[in-house]
Amino acid sequence: MTSRQRVNLPRLAVFASGNGSNFEAIVRAYKNKHLYANPIVCICDNEKAPAIERAANLDLPVTIFRPKDFSDKCSFESAILQCLDSYNIDIICLAGYMRIVGRTILEAYPGRILNIHPSLLPLYKGKNAIRRAFDDKRAEYGVTVHVVDVTLDGGEIICQEKLVYEGSNYEELESKVHNLEHKLYPKAINKFLEEKWANQF
Ligand code: GRF
Repeated sequence: MTSRQRVNLPRLAVFASGNGSNFEAIVRAYKNKHLYANPIVCICDNEKAPAIERAANLDLPVTIFRPKDFSDKCSFESAILQCLDSYNIDIICLAGYMRIVGRTILEAYPGRILNIHPSLLPLYKGKNAIRRAFDDKRAEYGVTVHVVDVTLDGGEIICQEKLVYEGSNYEELESKVHNLEHKLYPKAINKFLEEKWANQF
């Protein structure tokens, strides 16, 4: 990527609720010039999330929205939207955002929200996907990046990668899945932008 190409990169907001390792992987990919989008802000719904400290270490602004400060989901999401508008955000990446995105944000960013999920979707939608797959003694695990729509973990798949694990150590498996996520998410964002950005947006 040349410096000229990096000037008009789509502007990205990352939503995180917890650890933030995928958020960090996205920002590091950008800093290493491997990402065709510019991470601008982290949106966090949990004031205790380790993602907040990661943002500080990465020199990226983080804005915290606590759901308990709002009367309903619509006003919560409207406040987030105002923030996204102020940063001229083009696309959103959910990275461990532990909330269902509601209509207010979905309608403002149709087809422009991505999510990462630690399973080979459509298998193991929802929470604790790695644990449930492990308990089922699968031979194949994996990671999926998909477009977010009104369905739970059901939108169009952008990238999916398999992981074969035949061991019996859950922590080892979990760490392998997370490492795969950190590689796959930046790749998936680039693929999404190549396929959709020029034509659709
Ligand atoms: C990841 O496993 C991601 O797939 C899921 O939530 C987890 C977030 O991890 N949606 P982190 O906060 O990015 O470390």
